[in-house]
Formats: sequence, C-alpha cells, structure tokens
Amino acid sequence: MAGLSEQFHSGTIYSRKKPFAGSKPKDRPEPFKEYPGSKKVKLETPALPPGSLWLSLKNRRSRRDFKKEPISKDQLALLLWASQGVTEKISGFQLRTAPSAGALYPIETYLVSNRVEGLEPGVYHWNLIEQSLEMIKPGDVSLELELAALNQDMCRTAAVVFAWSAIFARSTFKYSDRGLRYIYMDAGHICENLYLACEDLKLGCCGVGAFFDDEVDALLGLDSKEEAAVYLAAVGKY
Ligand SMILES: Cc1cc2nc3c(=O)[nH]c(=O)nc-3n(C[C@H](O)[C@H](O)[C@H](O)COP(=O)(O)O)c2cc1C
Repeated sequence: MAGLSEQFHSGTIYSRKKPFAGSKPKDRPEPFKEYPGSKKVKLETPALPPGSLWLSLKNRRSRRDFKKEPISKDQLALLLWASQGVTEKISGFQLRTAPSAGALYPIETYLVSNRVEGLEPGVYHWNLIEQSLEMIKPGDVSLELELAALNQDMCRTAAVVFAWSAIFARSTFKYSDRGLRYIYMDAGHICENLYLACEDLKLGCCGVGAFFDDEVDALLGLDSKEEAAVYLAAVGKY
C-alpha cells in the first residue's frame, strides 16, 4: 500500500490498540431525498418475472442466527462459484461472475471453515486457478474470529465465514489512488453475489464490516500492508 491507500486504510482501521476516533458529522442526514414541487411520474411496484434471481432479490435478508448443522461441500463450491467463479477466458483475462474494475480482480477469498461436511475446520485460501482450497491454518478458530469481529457471535456459529482481502497494488498499479475506490466496490459486488446465491440455497448470509483489522489479518496470515482483509460474510443454515 502506498499514498492515499495507506492513509485511508490505516486511518479507518478498528484495533484494540487504537480505538477508532474518526470524525463524524454532528447530525444524521435525512435518509431519503425528494424534489418537492417537481413533476412526478409514478411507477407501481412491478410484478416479478419468474425465475430464482427475482425471488432471491426479493427475499434476501442479512441472517445472523445459524443452526448447528453443517453445510455441504457442494454448497460451498456453489457459493465460491457464485462469488468468484471464472465464467469466460478472453485474451488473458479470467472473467468472473462478479464484475471488477479493469478486470484486475484485487480481491482474494479466504474461508474460515467451522462446519462444512468433509472439510476440516481451519483457515483456507481459495486457489481460483486450481479450484482448490489451500489450508493455511488447521483447527477451529471460530472463537478467535468472533473476538476479532467485535464479539459478533455469528462469526463463531456460522458454518463458514468468507473473508475477502485486497491486494491493493493489483488495482492501484493501473488506477493509482482512484483504484482504492474500485477495490471496495469489487468486494461489495462479490458479497452481493454471495448473498443472492445463499438465498437461493436457503442458507443465511450476513456481511460483516466491523472487525479488528489487525486480528483478522493475523488469523488469515496477511501482512496488512500489501494485502489486508476488507470484508467478511458469515454463512450457515438458518
Ligand atoms: C458493508 C456492510 C457491512 C456490514 N457489516 C455488518 C456487521 O459488521 N454486522 C452485522 O450484523 N451486519 C452487518 N451488515 C449487514 C447490514 O446491517 C444489513 O445489510 C442492513 O441492516 C440491512 O438489512 P438487510 O441486509 O437484511 O436488508 C453489513 C452490511 C454491509 C453492506
């Protein structure tokens, strides 16, 4: 990380050593904007076309209460595909289910597997090219993740937690500081794909942006400089 990336990332971390002291506006803005007196064109809520996409969009919620039952390895494979599956190879680019600014794909996927059938609990990295899960740390780290995620117990009770990191230079080498914006947009696209796929598989999903950066990075074995965790999502049966 360099320049603004470094300033922004380190200026917005949560850490036990340095409680977040960023500036906040004094008043909460109105949540909706209106142009009173403007000429208005009313649109009715549309009837949804058939198809699972529309149902997933309609029914999607952030779900945080998970059952103890595991999810299957096939379900996990589908979720990995939905979030980062390669769907087309064109002139050196491996295009995916989620868009990425400049097809640079700065986001890496890690998993904290707690209860996935046939998969030992532990921390894994998703090797996209080989389509394999690379074990980084064996054993149950669910409690450590809960503590690192500001005591959010869904990170312990989830069957699996997706953890997305950014390799910042993948974007900033081309777009300079502007690339920083794209990195977080990319992570958002990926997580929404995961939400929608979970909805279709009747699995619960909740995005998690509140975590102690240094603790999650340490759990994933990241240096917090070139690569750092940017977003998590807890997934499980509900
Ligand atoms: C970037 C982002 C970070 C979030 N972080 C958390 C989190 O740390 N903990 C949590 O319980 N929910 C988190 N959420 C879920 C939101 O609270 C949730 O989307 C919101 O309440 C709207 O509810 P819905 O997703 O069910 O429509 C996050 C959502 C987003 C998009």
